[in-house]
Amino acid sequence: MSDFNPTLISIRDHDAELAKAEADVAGLAATRNDRWYPKFHIASNGGWINDPNGLCLYKGRWHVFYQLHPFGTQWGQCHWGHVSSADMVAWRREPIAMAPSLEQDKNGVFSGCAAIGDDGELRFYYTGHRWANGRDGSGGEWQVQMLATPDNDELTHITKRGTVVDCPRDKVDSHFRDPKVWKTDGTWYMTFGVSSAHRRGQMWLYTSHDMVEWRFERVLFEHPDPDVFMLECPDFFPITGPDGTERWVIGFSAMGSKPRGFMNRNVNNAGYMIGSWVPGEAFHPETDFRLWDCGHNFYAPQSFTAPDGRQLMYGWMSPFTEPIPMQDDGWCGQLTLPREITLGADGDLHTAPVRETDGLRMDTTDLGALDLNDNEEHGILDDAVAVEIELTIDLAQSTAERAGLKLHAANDGSYTYVAYDDQLERVVIDRQAAARGDRGYRTAPLSDAELASGKLDLRLFIDRGSIEVYVNDGRQVLSSYSYPSEGARAIKLTSESGTTRIDALRIHQLKSIGLE
Ligand code: FRU
Repeated sequence: MSDFNPTLISIRDHDAELAKAEADVAGLAATRNDRWYPKFHIASNGGWINDPNGLCLYKGRWHVFYQLHPFGTQWGQCHWGHVSSADMVAWRREPIAMAPSLEQDKNGVFSGCAAIGDDGELRFYYTGHRWANGRDGSGGEWQVQMLATPDNDELTHITKRGTVVDCPRDKVDSHFRDPKVWKTDGTWYMTFGVSSAHRRGQMWLYTSHDMVEWRFERVLFEHPDPDVFMLECPDFFPITGPDGTERWVIGFSAMGSKPRGFMNRNVNNAGYMIGSWVPGEAFHPETDFRLWDCGHNFYAPQSFTAPDGRQLMYGWMSPFTEPIPMQDDGWCGQLTLPREITLGADGDLHTAPVRETDGLRMDTTDLGALDLNDNEEHGILDDAVAVEIELTIDLAQSTAERAGLKLHAANDGSYTYVAYDDQLERVVIDRQAAARGDRGYRTAPLSDAELASGKLDLRLFIDRGSIEVYVNDGRQVLSSYSYPSEGARAIKLTSESGTTRIDALRIHQLKSIGLE
């Protein structure tokens, strides 16, 4: 062990700060309007949330922490909220885990991860955030990487240990955050996102032998696009394909990239590159940048390796663009369903819902095969609050220009449209007819092989205020908020300008995960 000691400068009583945060969240929860509040997605009972943090399976329970602003429904003064589960289906709300209380994190306990040491003990690494001018963002940010450890096996009380990676502020354009820690070949590694002095988005690599004292090793990756000035919430992990070959995946949430065609339509965009990495060297990308999720509302995902070897990921459904209707309801923001990341035989990453998601199903209606005539619309549910739909479209036997579903369809004529678009050869989620919130559409590509198969599998998860669309078993995903109007929320099949053959259609009513 080294004699290095993290720096700890306490300025407030942590437990008292946590109690204030609990009281404010409870106040917001008491007045909450549930019209769009999720039944089966993780959200705070009141206040604002963003990134998933500290994901792990520890001593038999799954833990999800998340960025939480307890004092309002906008981003601000970041804490860590916490929920846990024995089975990833039924969740329990846990006490708020961390609040700003140190000089180093006085303006925010920012994002971070959990890492379990060889001793079986868990460590949290997070970013301590303060405004450089002591007031606001106009003078830049001052960020450092921090260590914290739990006081019990349930992770319901945490002790902060202090700064383990200081910021060399002359080499950094203030952004310096979101540590991810893992072990390769007997060495502990930490990477996090940095805006270099020249405003390039980079990931830096540090090493450690005791998980406490960290040394700078090198820049692991610099984004090739000079517009990209910061890589938030970076991720880095090996993955093995069906042929047994190991590849490395670099993930990040890029700030600054410009929209081009179908790419980078959101304010900031989260995606990955697949490549190779040898410890001691930089990461070598061997693919282009690909989005984790093509929807309107996906950002800052975090993945972790479960003890059974699965690489699991949660994303934050970032509202991005105003207006954000749920902000009037006492809460704002939810996470996606948990997804398993796999490397397919097609050489790309797939993210399907974890198999535990099937545990949400209560009862199932099998509508079998169905043919829709030219321009036919066919109602399949009069009022769907929380449902999963499995749909196989026979593309080879369909002539429709767009074939799909109107979701959250209300009496005032508003709806959100999910369809296969035969002109684009893409799956589209279109909010043109939405009653509230930001509109616009997003699309997910289909590969030549997927198109050639003549079939399209869609798996849709419709919650009170959101829609997730998994295309061909997670080859693509689209996640978007959708705020239905008052009254019943119907689901209708549609076949625009041509016919549609549906090979299979099943509807599952989904249960609550217990956080309402
Ligand atoms: C990404 C992010 C992170 C940061 C956190 C603060 O959404 O900006 O980079 O740690 O949110 O809430």
